[in-house]
Amino acid sequence: MCGIVGYIGEEQAAPILLNGLQKLEYRGYDSAGVAVYNSTGLHVVKSKGRLSVLEGILEGGKSLPGTVGIGHTRWATHGAPSDVNSHPQVSDGGKFVVVHNGIIENYLELKNRLMGRGVEFASDTDTEVVAQLLEYYYTGDVLEAIQKVIARVEGSYALGILCADCPEKLFAVRKDSPLIIGVGQGENFIASDVPAILSYTRDIYRLKDREIAVLTRESIAFYNQELDPIQKEPERIQWDIDAAEKGGYEHFMMKEIYEQPEALRKTISPRIREGKIVLDDITLTREQIQNIRKVCIVACGTAYHVGVVAKYAFERLLKIPLEVDVASEFRYREPILDENTLVIIISQSGETADTLAALRMAKAKGCRILSIVNVVGSTIANESDDVLYTWAGPEIAVASTKAYSTQLAVIYMIVLYMADQLGSVSQEEMAQYMADLQRLPDLAAECLQDKETIQYFASQYFNAHDMYFIGRNVDYAASLEASLKLKEISYIHSEAYTAGELKHGPISLIEDGTLVIAIATYEKLFDKMMSNVREVKARGAVVLGITVQDKEEALKQETDFQFCVPKITDFMLPSLSILPLQLFAYYVASMKGCDIDKPRNLAKSVTVE
Ligand code: F6R
Repeated sequence: MCGIVGYIGEEQAAPILLNGLQKLEYRGYDSAGVAVYNSTGLHVVKSKGRLSVLEGILEGGKSLPGTVGIGHTRWATHGAPSDVNSHPQVSDGGKFVVVHNGIIENYLELKNRLMGRGVEFASDTDTEVVAQLLEYYYTGDVLEAIQKVIARVEGSYALGILCADCPEKLFAVRKDSPLIIGVGQGENFIASDVPAILSYTRDIYRLKDREIAVLTRESIAFYNQELDPIQKEPERIQWDIDAAEKGGYEHFMMKEIYEQPEALRKTISPRIREGKIVLDDITLTREQIQNIRKVCIVACGTAYHVGVVAKYAFERLLKIPLEVDVASEFRYREPILDENTLVIIISQSGETADTLAALRMAKAKGCRILSIVNVVGSTIANESDDVLYTWAGPEIAVASTKAYSTQLAVIYMIVLYMADQLGSVSQEEMAQYMADLQRLPDLAAECLQDKETIQYFASQYFNAHDMYFIGRNVDYAASLEASLKLKEISYIHSEAYTAGELKHGPISLIEDGTLVIAIATYEKLFDKMMSNVREVKARGAVVLGITVQDKEEALKQETDFQFCVPKITDFMLPSLSILPLQLFAYYVASMKGCDIDKPRNLAKSVTVE
């Protein structure tokens, strides 16, 4: 949720921290701050508002000299966005300065205890408890103080810590929130995510839960919770730096929408050899696949919508029952799980708190965990039995697009792989599915060519108060995602309904001029969809219909606006029908003047429950 960056080296720290925070602003953007050491002591400058406010105060970093520092961009959880609640948080005596991502769940209990012992608190944040506790336990050894603090706090944290007594050191520790250490020449870094430090180094270490790092200009030392020194393997980041930049597009979201054909190609092509799906190093054997009695897909938000598509594909091709849950419900609903349940976890970031907790719960019940993750080396990837990466590259815009597309592609590949292992579809059908899978990147590119039609349609309706998305079967799954995209970036109220369900209640919302977007690509139910379109039109709705090319003429008879996508195997249709609707959400938000890449109240990586 929040973004952390830290620097120790020979250069001026503040400009490097601000630069890193810019790259992390997608993680939180309601306030920002930095702390820097210099010859006059440890200085903290922080401010409510976007990073640009802090940049102005610091004159781009020039007004705060010093070569060691930490910075933070915040997404508020405890305490409203304000100057005092911004990070870094400072201990009462000024000894410790802390930046934090995550939630300290027992902060109130700890705060009350410290206040009872005379410690004065300045903010409403949970983070301040960490700074105060560090000072409380500190007797001259920072590592020991950190050890005591992590033994007391509950919840999740990635922490960057400075101590006034150690101006030549930067400390970091994490649990359930990501933190990486960047290795430079005569300089070292900490960061929540790779883009923050990619212009300085490609060599990183990933901290694991409760591991502590101590950075100086020339060295990085790692310790476990017992304070025993540990060795860690460095990792080299392979992605192109351009992948983390806008590359000429006005927004990351638009860039990422147009990266989808390439992302699909990178995700699919290496996994097809001699006409068959080859799934990386998946250890799931044929016998284990034969023993699967149930599949559970667990995810949040957009990733959950991938699971909704998966249900149709799995049950039709494999005849294995599939349950799909949002992670925050799954973890508390006491699902029936055993060693014959395959749990598929889907997550772009690989760090989503609810999804991770669901994974751990399922693992504890003996389920096999297969995860679909975009961020290499993330916690979910590390804790799964098998991982299939979506090779989408970094997704920076808060609204997910290319992660969704590539997650769907991986789902199709899992289904086809398992169908092959089980022999559950004919060779002829399999050949058709494989051909369609390989055409997917080109067909996606085709769908994205006609952005003007969508732009025009958006220009007619960007002032709407409400919009409804309807569909049946896989088109309903796509409706869920299209509706989420629109509401999260344009702030227009929108809902997705199964078209057959309208008459059981939601149709009462339709009045003269209400906009309904009817996704009708699933040909088997096209006629039934048209009946539903007639029902809403009879009550005054304006309808944009989305269908496959063969049905264009029929759709024209029933709807006010149309958009066609190429024909493809039916369970793959959401991969195409979503594309014009991502563009639609983008243009509506742009015409309304919304902050597309950083929509209000949202953050990219949701590492709190
Ligand atoms: C919506 C969106 C979110 C995420 C959700 C899960 O555009 O991006 O709904 O899909 O927060 O995040 P991950 O996939 O990182 O677990």
